[in-house]
Amino acid sequence: MGLKLTDISHTYAPTTPFAVEALANIDLNIEVGRTLVILGPTGSGKSTLLGIACGLVRPTLGSLALDGVNDAGVLVGREAGVGLVFQAPENQLFAEFVLDDVAFGPLNLGLGREAALERARDSLPAVGMDPAVFGDRSPFALSGGEARRVALAGVLAMKPAYLLLDEPTAGLDARGRDGVLAVLDELAPTTGIVIVTHDAEEFLGRADDVLVLAQGRSEYWGPVEGLLANPAPLLAAGLVLPDVVRVLHDARDVGVPIELFTADPVRAARILAAGLAKVRS
Ligand SMILES: Nc1ncnc2c1ncn2[C@@H]1O[C@H](COP(=O)(O)OP(=O)(O)OP(=O)(O)O)[C@@H](O)[C@H]1O
Ligand SMILES: [Mg+2]
Repeated sequence: MGLKLTDISHTYAPTTPFAVEALANIDLNIEVGRTLVILGPTGSGKSTLLGIACGLVRPTLGSLALDGVNDAGVLVGREAGVGLVFQAPENQLFAEFVLDDVAFGPLNLGLGREAALERARDSLPAVGMDPAVFGDRSPFALSGGEARRVALAGVLAMKPAYLLLDEPTAGLDARGRDGVLAVLDELAPTTGIVIVTHDAEEFLGRADDVLVLAQGRSEYWGPVEGLLANPAPLLAAGLVLPDVVRVLHDARDVGVPIELFTADPVRAARILAAGLAKVRS
């Protein structure tokens, strides 16, 4: 089960002098109830991979299966399918009123107008926006952060089993960021979440699995604990180890017994405290 990508390669403008090999031989499995973080520097192929995962971009090579069924068609926007929040989600908005924009996805899934509006009224508060205040506003008269939240609400309204987010907190202030993270926390147990970012610090603490991309190639794919215990692939991709993980490695280097590495600061503090207690006893 899950959303499975097998041996995916992608070249833009193939057979032309402008060919760009964006991805090579990527394997990936996205499961409901797990959060996958895709990390990589600018131009490493992250957005291309998300486009392929939701069926919007057809890979040059490789295959895609949703819940065991091979599928080359568009998955995004299907009932209980895949939802994608674009890198610049402001560009996703198009309707005259915010409420209609958010209701568009469910309407497109075949829900009646009232049911679709109901979903829209439910999903706006989930991103911290009051439908009574924002519902009748134009999506083009919102701040960047508000527009981003409306775009997220539009995807949430479709209740996707798999939710793909491209740099979901870029450009948000602390409150906007916390709002998005709270939504993700709530959805995490029942949704397959994929977060694309170049910032290891921000999201590794909530990752179950990680894919590290460098120049379109997979440097690491697997559980987050494996990467944090041996972070060489992260550094090879030109990314920075989160501070809390560095603290755990420094502690182990001076003899504190640390068996588990995490980027979640609260868990890291507990692991460090337990290690120090062993040193003292
Ligand atoms: N439509 C396109 N046509 C040709 N080349 C493209 C196209 N879109 C992306 N590329 C190239 O493919 C590579 C991967 O791009 P992609 O947008 O997937 O990277 P990214 O990791 O999402 O980068 P960023 O962090 O800057 O968003 C880059 O070299 C980029 O220049
Ligand atoms: Mg991108």
